[in-house]
Amino acid sequence: MNNSPIGVYDSGFGGLSVWRELRRMLPSESLVYLGDGKNCPYGGRRREDIERFAFAAVERLVAEGVKMVVVGCNTATTAAVGALREHWSDMPIVGLEPAVKPACLTSRTRRIAVLATKHSLASDMFLATAMRYAEGVDVVKVVGEGFVELVEEDREESDEAMAAVRHVIEPLMDSSIDKIVLGCTHYPFLKPHIREVIGDRDIEIIDSGEAVARRVKWLLERYDIAAAEDNVAECRFLSFADEDYRRRLEYKASKILAHGDAL
Ligand code: DGL
Repeated sequence: MNNSPIGVYDSGFGGLSVWRELRRMLPSESLVYLGDGKNCPYGGRRREDIERFAFAAVERLVAEGVKMVVVGCNTATTAAVGALREHWSDMPIVGLEPAVKPACLTSRTRRIAVLATKHSLASDMFLATAMRYAEGVDVVKVVGEGFVELVEEDREESDEAMAAVRHVIEPLMDSSIDKIVLGCTHYPFLKPHIREVIGDRDIEIIDSGEAVARRVKWLLERYDIAAAEDNVAECRFLSFADEDYRRRLEYKASKILAHGDAL
């Protein structure tokens, strides 16, 4: 038993889509969420810089007394998870990868699309996963241009967001893809628009939030560090940006909980 919090980290708001699944699956676990905010977006940055941000974030979470860290950011995972695990070898660190494996395994048309940041799609980790599971499956890689900024600016419900999603998703509708993998934790916030563009086509949208929460649950049990069932879970929010950003994180999280299945 261990009632210490789990740390969740992202470049900004995106990891809240993972945070939400953790709240749902593990209601007794306290969570400390760190949304960098100051250096977001990460997607177009150099690997070395993202690794530096990730180290600063995990250091901060460790100072908060976390028992485990979830890197709720695909981009930071591809850039830094190996080095983070090496450095904090006595603490479980869970990374996020686009759900290429389940998408490839279940695709009927043998053609899938993976939406992620420029950095994630160009990373060695993504290439290795694609090589491993995509044999005989055509993987169309697409950057969700502008998506992260829209979510960071609370404009995911705007007409502008709809237009940005249409611009990225519509060209895919001519091909025979039957899965769209959301390989960036900001993108689930745009799911309603993505669904609208897909319309009644038989295309499944897959993100990694739930699978990551399951993995966390498994690790808590394996290392015997789960919180007591009657633990009254606390959720806190931190940021490297200003207090206004931190408050917006907190507000967005409360909205997510109130809306239930909105993502
Ligand atoms: N949410 C992040 C991800 O999952 C990164 C977005 C960004 O900062 O570009 O990749």
